[in-house]
Amino acid sequence: MQSALIEWSARTRRDLPWRHTRDPWSVLVSELMLQQTQVARVIPKYHAFLQRFPTPAACAAAPAGDVVRAWAGLGYNRRALNLHATAVAVVQRHDGVLPDDLDALIALPGIGPYTARAVLAFAYERDVGVLDVNAARVVHRTAGRRLPPRAAQIRADELVPPGEGWAWNQAMLDLGATVCTRRAPRCGECPVVAHCAWDGQSADPAPGANRQSTFEGSDRQGRGRLVDALRDGPVAIADVPLVAGWPDDPTRAHRVADSLVADGLAVVSGDALVLP
Ligand code: ADE
Repeated sequence: MQSALIEWSARTRRDLPWRHTRDPWSVLVSELMLQQTQVARVIPKYHAFLQRFPTPAACAAAPAGDVVRAWAGLGYNRRALNLHATAVAVVQRHDGVLPDDLDALIALPGIGPYTARAVLAFAYERDVGVLDVNAARVVHRTAGRRLPPRAAQIRADELVPPGEGWAWNQAMLDLGATVCTRRAPRCGECPVVAHCAWDGQSADPAPGANRQSTFEGSDRQGRGRLVDALRDGPVAIADVPLVAGWPDDPTRAHRVADSLVADGLAVVSGDALVLP
């Protein structure tokens, strides 16, 4: 399976800006942006963000609200706050350089096991298995069964050919994103079909196989509308229901606004909400 996938990737690897760098801060920014946001939308934001905040120190020196502003269009604004908190911690604990160590990375705010391994593999070229939703699909389908999370991580780590952590993980992410897709996987084009224990038809062993998008009408949609408005300036508390998109449900709108304040994405200033 290893040589087949690496050979396929050498022929088909997508040319993406974060694949031209080994700078750990750039890798971290790209990975956080790529969680839940499509590659094509991320590319311009990635360049603009790094222009504005080229290092953890530059990011840590800015108010958190500036980072939320630079996150416009990417959604999941808490990731912007987490990134700012991480930058501050990296300056305080690690002289402004993201550590080359799994536990030290996971100890940073907003860096989970996936993101920590992505920094290790894509910046420090370590042989760890990066398990985002796309790679997890490949890991489970090739295994032919649903694995407990720890077992999935162990399998992902074991699949990495020694010394090939960078190329292997990029290949796994590409395979999951373009061939081993959630719906209608293209098994006929798959370079590792001969090594796969799933037939592409029977019950899908991948996690979240039947999940639907639930953004429309969700609390998250209202949160997103509020943060979008806050980027342009204060939002009067009285206007929260309108701005959140629920003029007829002020209870819900204010509850969602309270959650933004609780998360540190907004602060109350007089009779208005503002970015931190
Ligand atoms: N998604 C998450 N990480 C990625 C990467 N390095 N390249 C492409 N898509 C990704």
